[in-house]
Amino acid sequence: MAAPRRIFHARIDSTNLEAKRLFDGSPLLVVAAEQSAGMGRLGRIWQSPPGGLWMSLAWPMRAPLTAYQTVPLAAGLATAEAIASVCGLSAGIKWPNDLLLGDNKLAGVLCQTELDRQVLVVGIGINANLDTTALGEGLRRPPTSLRDALGADVDLERLEAALLERLIEGLEICERDGFGVALAQRVNARLCWRGARVRSVDEQGTALAEGVLTGIDGSGALLLASDSGVHALTVGELQRV
Ligand code: BTN
Repeated sequence: MAAPRRIFHARIDSTNLEAKRLFDGSPLLVVAAEQSAGMGRLGRIWQSPPGGLWMSLAWPMRAPLTAYQTVPLAAGLATAEAIASVCGLSAGIKWPNDLLLGDNKLAGVLCQTELDRQVLVVGIGINANLDTTALGEGLRRPPTSLRDALGADVDLERLEAALLERLIEGLEICERDGFGVALAQRVNARLCWRGARVRSVDEQGTALAEGVLTGIDGSGALLLASDSGVHALTVGELQRV
């Protein structure tokens, strides 16, 4: 596939919002040095000072909607693999799409769709060349950055290129074949909390299931083993018990 059209902003409200505004039916990548209204999952604020990699890919939806349900997981995998290849760091994937170094948040994924325009926007934020002290207090999980971990800055252009290549690969696999065992194996190799007891909660914090996290399956579902059997989860947020 030809590289998507790329738009760069020194400062924008949110690359997800801009990607939706500018989408014209063809793949489009929006990158910003800084976001003034970065958006996290579940309506949270995503702090986006200069030095991070803030990018969104607007993608025309050509397959049935179900093909895109696992894109957040594929995007998390693409992010972890790009970070490993460019920085040599092994970030863990906290299902479905948080990226952690140790217990600290390194990156996140926000996928949004507009079904009337048949567009999927995959937004990815990586705390790259920034001091996490610049992110202020009160975050749900303590943040970290590539600079914190490496003690040096990374080449954002290389990181963006490595991420975009893997992201498009993952999107095309989801569209063509479904998530599948090959992607599941790659996620399982980087999955946080395998073998640990976890709880899945909904947006209100109500428990959905609890058990020992054994991995994800070829459909992208998270498998929790409990006394009542194996739960295969497709939604929810994980907590360690
Ligand atoms: C999360 O973990 O809550 C998801 C964070 C996603 C942040 C990225 S930064 C680029 C894109 N633009 C946004 O406004 N959000 C996403």
